[in-house]
Amino acid sequence: MDYDLSAIVTPYVTDYIREKTTHKNKLLLELEEYAKENKVPIAEPETARLVSVLTKLVRPKKILEVGSAIGYSAIIMSEGLACDGKIITLEYDPETVKIACKNVERAGLSDTITVVEADAKDYLSYIDDDESFDMIFLDGPKAHYLFMLDDAVRLLKKGGLLVSDNILFKGMTADDGHFARRKVTIITRLREYIDALMAHPQLETSILSQGDGVTLSVKTVSNKERFGG
Ligand SMILES: C[S@@+](CC[C@H](N)C(=O)[O-])C[C@H]1O[C@@H](n2cnc3c(N)ncnc32)[C@H](O)[C@@H]1O
Repeated sequence: MDYDLSAIVTPYVTDYIREKTTHKNKLLLELEEYAKENKVPIAEPETARLVSVLTKLVRPKKILEVGSAIGYSAIIMSEGLACDGKIITLEYDPETVKIACKNVERAGLSDTITVVEADAKDYLSYIDDDESFDMIFLDGPKAHYLFMLDDAVRLLKKGGLLVSDNILFKGMTADDGHFARRKVTIITRLREYIDALMAHPQLETSILSQGDGVTLSVKTVSNKERFGG
């Protein structure tokens, strides 16, 4: 089988979708340009738009993001927050944290978005249950999603939305004959993550071949309904 490593869907379809998915926000355009020039991995335009639309549907009071990079997706999600809503976004690279903070400040969102310098897996495990979130966007270390899932579900409110990006990893997750050997760990973990999402007793999940692959999981069963207490 021949593969195009640059896209999950046919490239001309992706091109068409991207051509249509434009916006006029100057700062976001600048961040997209910066990301391109400096090879910073930010959400693909169509995924960024999906996340933007979802946020506006959910109208979350609290969002948790894993993987801030330069603050691009956090700034996009802020538009959909409920009144006085807040975003906590986690980033472990200190230099990237500085850039994200600067961009959040430039967007006038310092009171809304908190960029926390932390390893997401550790940070999640320290947050108390009552710090629950209406939406969680996992867009950090792909090989660690699996190990963050229990905490992500624990911290999500019933009815809340968990969005996980890059789960198809340029299509490699979906086919045994199609991945570079050096990617074996990440692909294996992503497959296990998808299996865990699909089998999770508290989630209902849809897998989208959007951008680099996105899962949308709604929490249908609360922690109390599952565990009692
Ligand atoms: C794909 S980028 C995030 C893009 C961003 N969400 C956007 O679309 O604008 C992933 C980010 O996760 C960060 N990261 C990787 N491992 C991490 C970890 N264990 N904890 C926190 N952040 C991590 C990387 O430094 C990188 O900036």
